[in-house]
Amino acid sequence: MQLLENHVVLITGGGSGLGLGVARHCLAEGAEVAILEVSPGKVADLEAEFGDRVLVRQGDVRSIDDLQAMRAAVEKRFGKLNALIGTQGVFDGNLPLAETPLEKIPSLFDELFQVNVLGYILSAKIFVDLLEQNDGAIVLTSSTAAYAADGGGLFYSASKGAVRSVVNQLAFEFAPRVRVNGIAPSGIANSQLAGPRSLGMDHMKQSDIPKENFLAQFQELMPLKHLPTPEEYGWLYAFLASGRNTLMTGQTIVADQGLFNRAVLTQDLPGADSVAGGIGKPEVSLA
Ligand SMILES: NC(=O)c1ccc[n+]([C@@H]2O[C@H](COP(=O)([O-])OP(=O)(O)OC[C@H]3O[C@@H](n4cnc5c(N)ncnc54)[C@H](O)[C@@H]3O)[C@@H](O)[C@H]2O)c1
Repeated sequence: MQLLENHVVLITGGGSGLGLGVARHCLAEGAEVAILEVSPGKVADLEAEFGDRVLVRQGDVRSIDDLQAMRAAVEKRFGKLNALIGTQGVFDGNLPLAETPLEKIPSLFDELFQVNVLGYILSAKIFVDLLEQNDGAIVLTSSTAAYAADGGGLFYSASKGAVRSVVNQLAFEFAPRVRVNGIAPSGIANSQLAGPRSLGMDHMKQSDIPKENFLAQFQELMPLKHLPTPEEYGWLYAFLASGRNTLMTGQTIVADQGLFNRAVLTQDLPGADSVAGGIGKPEVSLA
C-alpha cells in the first residue's frame, strides 16, 4: 500500500518550488491532491501539467473568502481532507534593518507576516474540523532562518520563527485528533521564492541567482554538500501528512544538510586557511 493511499492532501502555495515538488511526490504516493496558488500564471501551468488529476484553484491564503471557496471545492470533489500542507512564502530580500527605509517597515512586516504566518493560521482555522473527521495532519513550512541569523533578513527570519511557534501551539490545541508539525528547510533547488512587493522587490526571485553560485555555497558550507530538490523534501512532507506518523506532533524538523552540526572551524572555502578568519561572506543568503 502506498503511503498516501486514501489520503486527500491540500497544498497551499503549490505553484512552484517546494509546494509543487511536494504535490508531485504526494501524487506519486497515491494521494488525491488539491492546490491553492495565488499566481494565475502558475495556476495555468499547474492545469497544463496535471489536468483533471489535481484540483487547482487560484486564491490568496490571506483571503478568508478564497480559503472558504477552496474548502467548498475540496468538500465537493473529495468529501474529506486528510492533510493540509502549507508551503507558501515570501522573502524579505535579505535586507539588513539598517538599510530598510523606516517608513517601509510597517508594510514589509505586514506583507511577510500575512503571507508567511497569517496564511497558515487562517488555513488551519478553516480546515481543522475537516481534518478532525479523519484524524488528519497539518504540516507547515518554517526555515533554518528561524533558528540562526543570516538565513534571511530580520522580517523573514522572524516570520519563520513565528511558524515554529504556530506549530507548537496548534499541535497542543488540536491534539489528539490533528497532528501538527513543521519542516525547516535550508535551501531548495529550483525555488522561485520572491522578494517583497512592499519594497518593490517582488520581481526578484531566488531562481535569478546563478545556479552555480547557489550550488557552490551549499557545497562549501553543508556537510552533505547537496542542494535538495523540492521533490526530495516531498518524502518528509508526505510522511508527516500521512496516517503513518503516529509518533510526533508539535515538532519542526530541521532539514539542513548538516549545516547546524558544524561550528565552522575547519574551512573548505576556496583559498581560505584551515582555521580562524571567519567563513567569508557568502554571495547569496539562504532562505
Ligand atoms: N527557497 C529556499 O531556499 C527556502 C529555504 C527554506 C524555506 N523556504 C520556504 O519554503 C516555502 C516554499 O518556498 P519556495 O522556495 O518553494 O518558493 P516559491 O516561490 O517557488 O513557492 C512559493 C509559492 O507560494 C505562492 N504564494 C505566495 N504568496 C501566496 C499567497 N498569498 N497565497 C497563495 N500562494 C502564495 C507563490 O506564488 C509560489 O508559487 C516558503 O515558505 C519558503 O519560505 C524556502
